[in-house]
Amino acid sequence: MKTPSISTLSFILFVIFSCSCASVSADGHEDFLECLSEEFHNYPSISNVTYTPINNSSSYSSILRFSIQNLRFTSESTPKPLVIITPEHESQIPPIIHCAKDSEVQIRTRSGGHDYEGLSYVSPVPFIILDLINFSEITVDAVNKTAWVESGSTIGSLYYRIAEKSPVLGFPAGVCPTVGVGGHFSGGGYGNLLRKYGLAADNVIDARLIDVNGRILDRQSMGEDLFWAIRGGGGASFGVILAWKVQLVDVPERVTVFTVQKTLEQNASRLIHRWQYVASKFDEDLFIRIIIARANSSSSQTGGNNVTLNASFNSIFLGGVDRLLPMMQESFPELGLVREDCTEMSWIESILYFDGFPIENREVLLNRTQRSVRYFKAKSDYVQTPIPEFALEGIWRLFFEPEADEAVVIFSPYGGRMDEVPESSIPFPHRAGNLYKIQHLVYWEKEEDQNSGRYLSWIRRLYGYVAPYVSRFPRAAYINYRDLDIGMNRNEGRTSYAEANVWGMKYFKGNFERLVRVKTMVDPRNFFRNEQSIPSLREEIDD
Ligand SMILES: Cc1cc2nc3c(=O)[nH]c(=O)nc-3n(C[C@H](O)[C@H](O)[C@H](O)COP(=O)(O)OP(=O)(O)OC[C@H]3O[C@@H](n4cnc5c(N)ncnc54)[C@H](O)[C@@H]3O)c2cc1C
Ligand SMILES: *[C@@H]1O[C@H](CO)[C@@H](O)[C@H](O)[C@H]1NC(C)=O
Ligand SMILES: *[C@@H]1O[C@H](CO)[C@@H](O)[C@H](O)[C@H]1NC(C)=O
Ligand SMILES: *[C@@H]1O[C@H](CO)[C@@H](O)[C@H](O)[C@H]1NC(C)=O
Ligand SMILES: *[C@@H]1O[C@H](CO)[C@@H](O)[C@H](O)[C@H]1NC(C)=O
Ligand SMILES: *[C@@H]1O[C@H](CO)[C@@H](O)[C@H](O)[C@H]1NC(C)=O
Ligand SMILES: *[C@@H]1O[C@H](CO)[C@@H](O)[C@H](O)[C@H]1NC(C)=O
Ligand SMILES: *[C@@H]1O[C@H](CO)[C@@H](O)[C@H](O)[C@H]1NC(C)=O
Ligand SMILES: *[C@@H]1O[C@H](CO)[C@@H](O)[C@H](O)[C@H]1NC(C)=O
Ligand SMILES: *[C@@H]1O[C@H](CO)[C@@H](O)[C@H](O)[C@H]1NC(C)=O
Ligand SMILES: *[C@@H]1O[C@H](CO)[C@@H](O)[C@H](O)[C@H]1NC(C)=O
Repeated sequence: MKTPSISTLSFILFVIFSCSCASVSADGHEDFLECLSEEFHNYPSISNVTYTPINNSSSYSSILRFSIQNLRFTSESTPKPLVIITPEHESQIPPIIHCAKDSEVQIRTRSGGHDYEGLSYVSPVPFIILDLINFSEITVDAVNKTAWVESGSTIGSLYYRIAEKSPVLGFPAGVCPTVGVGGHFSGGGYGNLLRKYGLAADNVIDARLIDVNGRILDRQSMGEDLFWAIRGGGGASFGVILAWKVQLVDVPERVTVFTVQKTLEQNASRLIHRWQYVASKFDEDLFIRIIIARANSSSSQTGGNNVTLNASFNSIFLGGVDRLLPMMQESFPELGLVREDCTEMSWIESILYFDGFPIENREVLLNRTQRSVRYFKAKSDYVQTPIPEFALEGIWRLFFEPEADEAVVIFSPYGGRMDEVPESSIPFPHRAGNLYKIQHLVYWEKEEDQNSGRYLSWIRRLYGYVAPYVSRFPRAAYINYRDLDIGMNRNEGRTSYAEANVWGMKYFKGNFERLVRVKTMVDPRNFFRNEQSIPSLREEIDD
């Protein structure tokens, strides 16, 4: 008897709630702009970097689009920000935070825009984008081996500025040069120096941040808890990060790179299987990852068609070829590496090499435009015991399905420095015990394909297939490979600790609890929030 009335009631509440949301959406916009104009006595100084869809429609669209790195979030139906602001000075940001709180619109902070699920520029509730594209100053101190890097800088420009000052300094961050340091360092940030030097976040030594009260803080004034949280816990939960101070690392004058390709017919499966036993135990100067994708073959034995798989053993060695060859002969002779496969070059050239650019033209590292922006979905896994060969072959079978036309899996070895850093050192917990990380990726070309969901369903099947062979309890994931499939906060109302713990454990393991404590302390009302932001335990209690 009671059930129908409860569901009727919740239906009515739902309608009322949806309506009130819609009106917040319309008003929020004007309230927000009005508040800004009051806050800025000299409003012109911010209005020239404020874009609305009505008054500045073509600049609004081009600025919105400029940093989007995944076409999945460019459709008509993707929710759009009420306003985009590209501040030029940090003093402009506290009033923006104040007005957003006042008019109940959410802030999405965007640095490089590479978030896999578009969280820096899409929200289901009324929002504005705080786009830090013009916070891109980098100051390298080659004597003290440090640098200050503003959040909107790309990692490519950081590498470029370091190399400008010194040929024997580097920094351990990601591979793709257009990635922004704002999101990347706050989620960990790994690349091909991680076996020697760990993550980007392991090498952050100071930061500047604006908190929910508009205070501009550095490491000392924010305190060690908050400074801990923003190095791997995701920046978006804690405030607006303005800049990082990083410790640069030593690199030799010459490094050695190689990429050896093997198809299934060339025993790729056996080599990949073997790699799992050795790659995390190599000397920490040696990093060999494997990129696996479909390829055409002229002499295919795979089910009578011409499709095979291509495994690229893609490597950097922090030393010369004369030291590398005997090391490979001893640790991984099966790959059959020979001198002709190897090229010696400077560290900065290796950055270009890994990205497939000609190594002569390093200016491309300053270019913020990615060469191929496509539709994609990605997921991550950690492997702690080698996957048996028959199970690898099961993965290959999935790659012969039509949706895997442009799919890729990347195996990145751990070990070395990653084994030495304690799990609780920063929020990123995936350390000793992991042989390697898998990134699963599926790309597609047309919007229609997105609607049919074929590609999403393919990658979810792949994820299901590998489940027995990867980390469990929790099934670990890397926050910088954001995946909303693993769990989300509620759009409306408070998300409990237990609900958020579902995805929180996967990204942070035991560190999730401390992240929640820090969040509760610095942003108790949970102003800085998104689908996977750290929840506050006091969100409603404080009201
Ligand atoms: C092509 C490509 C290549 C990649 N390669 C690598 C790689 O080699 N290694 C690796 O580890 N990862 C890699 N990634 C993942 C990348 O590290 C993450 O997507 C990272 O979060 C991107 O940072 P961003 O500033 O570009 O992204 P954004 O989309 O701007 O931000 C990502 C998240 O951080 C928040 N955020 C951004 N800036 C700030 C700030 N200043 N203050 C507070 N919160 C902020 C955003 O709100 C959002 O939640 C790659 C991604 C892509 C698309
Ligand atoms: C906006 O105006 C301020 C002062 O009025 C000026 O310093 C700044 O360069 C302007 N910015 C742009 C992008 O025009
Ligand atoms: C957008 O339009 C408003 C109103 O016309 C104007 O005040 C503002 O300066 C414009 N912003 C930019 C960046 O041109
Ligand atoms: C944008 O244009 C509308 C109508 O043209 C106007 O009412 C509004 O004040 C403008 N907004 C700003 C910020 O100038
Ligand atoms: C802000 O960034 C845009 C895009 O990169 C650029 O065109 C513009 O000149 C920048 N403005 C300032 C003041 O740096
Ligand atoms: C290096 O650091 C020291 C101590 O912090 C400082 O006094 C010195 O100025 C720095 N060197 C340079 C070149 O900035
Ligand atoms: C593949 O492995 C088999 C068995 O070890 C070996 O006989 C064969 O020569 C290898 N093929 C290639 C192309 O290396
Ligand atoms: C294998 O992949 C690499 C890039 O990872 C590519 O350069 C090469 O052409 C591919 N080989 C085949 C046979 O498709
Ligand atoms: C394989 O060949 C087909 C048909 O020629 C082509 O469309 C496809 O792009 C090729 N795939 C790869 C990975 O080279
Ligand atoms: C596919 O394989 C057949 C024989 O196995 C060969 O004749 C044909 O040329 C191959 N096609 C391509 C595109 O490689
Ligand atoms: C930056 O890269 C994009 C994509 O590769 C390219 O279209 C553009 O011309 C480049 N811009 C400059 C200034 O080189």
